[in-house]
Amino acid sequence: MVASTSLNVVPEDPTAYKTKEYWEQRYQQESPDTTFDWFKTHEELKPLFQGCIPHKDASILILGCGNSTLGEDMYRDGYKNITNIDYSGTVIENMKKRCEDMPDMKWLEMDIRALEFENESFDIIIDKGTMDALMCDRGDVWDPSEELVAEVKKEVDEVERVLKVGGSFIYITFGQPHFRKRHLVRDCWQVKTQTLGDAFHYFFYSMQKEKPSTPSS
Ligand SMILES: C[S@@+](CC[C@H](N)C(=O)[O-])C[C@H]1O[C@@H](n2cnc3c(N)ncnc32)[C@H](O)[C@@H]1O
Repeated sequence: MVASTSLNVVPEDPTAYKTKEYWEQRYQQESPDTTFDWFKTHEELKPLFQGCIPHKDASILILGCGNSTLGEDMYRDGYKNITNIDYSGTVIENMKKRCEDMPDMKWLEMDIRALEFENESFDIIIDKGTMDALMCDRGDVWDPSEELVAEVKKEVDEVERVLKVGGSFIYITFGQPHFRKRHLVRDCWQVKTQTLGDAFHYFFYSMQKEKPSTPSS
């Protein structure tokens, strides 16, 4: 496998990260066996996952999987009920081929803001860096645009809808609580924050759904 560190895929305009065109082009440009993990790998996240993923049979949804090794490393670690989604058809096809020896893994082309699953379908939903891509915008990070807030709300509304009661939403990001908490707060869960790393901190937010969702406005 090729670990992608090439500066060629870094966009001139960072707001490109919030567009499907950017990701599709990036994955078409890269070799199909490229891997790139934003922030942290499964090995580093494992101790934190153990605290909130109750058992290896848990149904897990990975939002915006990209070509990260997270899903396959979790599978090798014994989690067999994993669904991976991304809106880039190219990366989904590449990942399907890369993981063809993992027959139970599901790979679906889908937008995280319009999930094609029934209500309360998953025990665990993981977002590693994907909400961050939605948030790549110009303007004041302290006072994001209404449009950005609405896009992130679509994702969190969908997560709340398809997460089972008792299940957890896990979000791994570089985004500090003062920038992220406002997007994550809901009536049905408490937001718990843990930090990872020494020199540079990453954040591990976990939200356990305690009661059924109430439709939000
Ligand atoms: C920053 S990368 C993170 C990749 C991976 N989760 C990781 O940890 O390395 C964001 C990924 O989310 C996907 N993505 C961004 N917005 C999306 C959306 N609205 N629906 C589905 N996938 C999306 C992109 O195609 C890209 O693969």
